[in-house]
Amino acid sequence: MNVFEAMDTARAMRYLKPDPVPKELLEKLIYYASRASNPGNSQLWQFIVLQDEDKKRRIGDAIAQSFRDTFERQGLDTEGHSGYYLAAHLAQAPAIIFIGARNEYPPWQPDKRFVGSACYPAGQNLIVAARAMGLGATFTTLHAAASKLVHETLEIPEELSIALTIPIGYPQRTFGPVRRKPTDEIIHWDTFSGGKT
Ligand SMILES: Cc1cc2nc3c(=O)[nH]c(=O)nc-3n(C[C@H](O)[C@H](O)[C@H](O)COP(=O)(O)O)c2cc1C
Repeated sequence: MNVFEAMDTARAMRYLKPDPVPKELLEKLIYYASRASNPGNSQLWQFIVLQDEDKKRRIGDAIAQSFRDTFERQGLDTEGHSGYYLAAHLAQAPAIIFIGARNEYPPWQPDKRFVGSACYPAGQNLIVAARAMGLGATFTTLHAAASKLVHETLEIPEELSIALTIPIGYPQRTFGPVRRKPTDEIIHWDTFSGGKT
């Protein structure tokens, strides 16, 4: 599969089979994630790969509970809500990759905004690499629903902020073209208000 097809069809894959993902493939994903652009090539990203069933259950249960509470409080329907499904079944994902970074860029005046900048391009590379390898993945911020517990359970130092949580597994549903606006709605040639074509 070429890179264009992978980008075109790398839908958020929230429904995953329980089959384990070989360690070599997880390493390969992280290899390609860490080819991404990053501020000043500081490469502050760290990848924590969670496969341990007990730890997955502890973190997954807390995130699922947080989603149940939020949906109930807001009177939202959980039926057929794929984001809710992913949160409720997080513990069943064969692997969950957390991407985080310390606030160390630029070295002369570290700025917390660079933590996300350090991690997000790696996350997108990982999504595209997973698609090319036939693996399902979703770019998420699910850790935010149980941040303290994630740090404690995975023994992540306090000063390392998690920016992304990416559940990985073999897809249970089919990949397909992502739905995005046509480019003629978002391209502006030479001036913003000027010609669209
Ligand atoms: C910064 C960011 C945070 C996201 N957080 C979540 C999330 O917490 N849960 C989730 O299910 N999807 C999450 N997504 C995935 C988007 O919802 C998804 O990419 C978007 O709805 C488009 O769907 P598609 O990629 O399948 O075309 C996130 C994406 C980004 C870029």
